Amino acid sequence: MSILAGKRILLIIGGGIAAYKTLDLIRRLKERGAGVRAILTKAGGEFVTPLSVSGLTGEKVYMDLFSLTDESEMGHIQLSRDADLLVVAPATADLMARMAQGHANDLASTALLATDKRVLIAPAMNVRMWEHPATRRNLRQLGADGVLTVGPNDGAMACGEFGPGRMAEPMEILAAIEAALAERPGLPAPDGLARLAGPKPLAGKHVLITSGPTHEPIDPVRYIANRSSGKQGHAIAAAAVEAGARVTLVSGPVTLADPPGANVVHVESARDMRAAVEAALPADIAIFAAAVADWRVANSAEEKIKKGKDGPPALALVENPDILATIAKHADKRPPLVVGFAAETEQVIDHARAKLKKKGCDLIVANDVSPATGIMGGDRNTVHLVGPETLETWPDLPKTEVARRLIAALAEKVS
Ligand code: C5P
Repeated sequence: MSILAGKRILLIIGGGIAAYKTLDLIRRLKERGAGVRAILTKAGGEFVTPLSVSGLTGEKVYMDLFSLTDESEMGHIQLSRDADLLVVAPATADLMARMAQGHANDLASTALLATDKRVLIAPAMNVRMWEHPATRRNLRQLGADGVLTVGPNDGAMACGEFGPGRMAEPMEILAAIEAALAERPGLPAPDGLARLAGPKPLAGKHVLITSGPTHEPIDPVRYIANRSSGKQGHAIAAAAVEAGARVTLVSGPVTLADPPGANVVHVESARDMRAAVEAALPADIAIFAAAVADWRVANSAEEKIKKGKDGPPALALVENPDILATIAKHADKRPPLVVGFAAETEQVIDHARAKLKKKGCDLIVANDVSPATGIMGGDRNTVHLVGPETLETWPDLPKTEVARRLIAALAEKVS
């Protein structure tokens, strides 16, 4: 169970373009069983609406220090004490300055001053503002006051500049929140800040993951596909990012968003997928969760096939490359840990054992995808971990949780 289950987070949303990422953070906190109350600063309200925040937290959004209803329902002191952790995301330069000075001129700064709990900030601002001596000074002060920080990251900014200042991704903030709640703050960084690295079991490792179906063209507009949604593979990529890995996700056509923090290569066919996987080697762990089409059309047409008097066209099929087997038997670049998936509709374990041998991988994650299980395309999964001499059966779990457990189990094997 996540350390977040039953914990109460008071989230202070400052006024920055990164506030949209905070909405995703709320969703992920709630998914893990945390209660989230939000304070939206006046500037924050210019970027996200109280309606979207309350829709996601399932609670009233607090905005005004001098609201009689807010004060009669819950005073600002109680609001800040009732939480297990205060999180400021995005923490703007202005909000950080006011925190460092101990201002109490709005609800957010008042709650931050009145709290007796730890505070984690996720700064986000323009690169020059981040590097300005005033912000550096405020950061040092906040660090000395025991405030924890996560991020910011380097990258392209909404303002068009490049450099440090992008707010940490929701999964990174989540890991920092978990570490703060577990009282595992990292060692103070040279600038005096207590940075939260969080427990990162896969730090420094490269994890390669395939996900989704493949599309095998019949002609330029038609293709053969399967019902894979990519939900399980994408969840594994997100869990690997969360565990600190450098992640390459080779994804077939899916309707899912790219997991933040992963390097995503989009492909269509099995042959494209194999090329992308080979290009991404070497890797420490390779996880093949994609439902790769076994066959492609040998005589796929360059132009759209027309309905004609000759009747329906005959499609000749040829076998696709087996990406998992190719990589598991790779002469010089076989990753130390190769994991396959087995989607079966009967004799799940027996077929998985046979597949383990035939494909030469170290572990097979087997699941029953008979239509009655609802696993294909669904949000939950029941899996068996089949090793050469081991068998583990996990209970029915959300795919996100299967992903986390799988990554934790694999991290143990490569550590
Ligand atoms: O043989 P089967 O398709 O059931 O094997 C499933 C496993 O093999 C999955 O891990 C899948 O991603 C992988 N696979 C592959 N390339 C193929 C077929 C399957 O990587 N052409």
